[in-house]
Amino acid sequence: MIDGHTKLVGLLGWPVEHSLSPVMHNAAFDALGLNWRCVPLPVPPGQVKVAVRGLAAMGFRGANVTVPHKQAVMDVLDSIAPDAKELGAVNTLVVSRNADGAAAMIGYNTDAQGFVGALREGGFEPENGVSTVVVGAGGAARAVVYGLLRSGIGEIVVLNRTLERAQALVTDLGGSRALPLTPETLVESARAADLLVNTTTVGMWPRVDGSVWPDDVPVPAHLTVFDLVYNPLETRLLRQARKSGARGIDGLGMLVRQGALAFELWTNQGLTLDEIAEPMRTACERVLRG
Ligand code: ATR
Repeated sequence: MIDGHTKLVGLLGWPVEHSLSPVMHNAAFDALGLNWRCVPLPVPPGQVKVAVRGLAAMGFRGANVTVPHKQAVMDVLDSIAPDAKELGAVNTLVVSRNADGAAAMIGYNTDAQGFVGALREGGFEPENGVSTVVVGAGGAARAVVYGLLRSGIGEIVVLNRTLERAQALVTDLGGSRALPLTPETLVESARAADLLVNTTTVGMWPRVDGSVWPDDVPVPAHLTVFDLVYNPLETRLLRQARKSGARGIDGLGMLVRQGALAFELWTNQGLTLDEIAEPMRTACERVLRG
């Protein structure tokens, strides 16, 4: 129940109708007995500044930030955590207040840590000597590449439909190589790699028949394939991987982990990640598995 004491966080995105974040956070607030709520906030492009100011003015405690605002929001914050600044995207806002009640907006990124945690949970240890192909060069790809580089991974190749974006990512974050995304570059790079990560929206509901991997080539069986897409949980790419005996990891673990890290930044309850993540996962699975 919402009453006069309820503390609010929001989800800033455009569109936000299909996001699982409100479901996930509200399930965790309920399960952990916190009088908090997460509300979806559809913010059109161009309105980010006024929306962020509004959050502070209306007493919100924070927000998650999603597509397409993860980069634009950086221009309107009072401070940004060093890792979020380095990787170039913010997915979590915390409203911090001083003794006079003046608000400061602080930006964080929990995607990189969420990704690496989910990768380890899926049974893949990112360590020196391991080589990775990352498909896509948007905000999600930046978090993945940053997380992998920070965990000491060997080599990363970034493939993207728009080569310039992959080149910009590589220039900004280092430690990797950029190539245009074609069936040939993907297959060739994947043969020489241990891990393939899809950060693009290809295969996401409602276009569930899409896959970045070509139909006529089996996925190498030695690969671990991580698809950041979580709706559907079993994407076409993961089906292709499993068909060849390759290991597949779906996007739910990362979704839940980045959410649990944001939750702890807002509420500061000293809870373990697992305590927060468990009700989140259950709620997301209920929606995704129907
Ligand atoms: P996010 O922040 O979630 O990464 P984004 O910045 O919009 O979202 O990035 C989406 C990624 O999916 C990009 O790498 C995009 O490729 P472009 O940079 O060429 O646009 C990729 N993508 C989206 N649709 C695609 C498609 N049909 N084929 C290949 N790549 C696609």
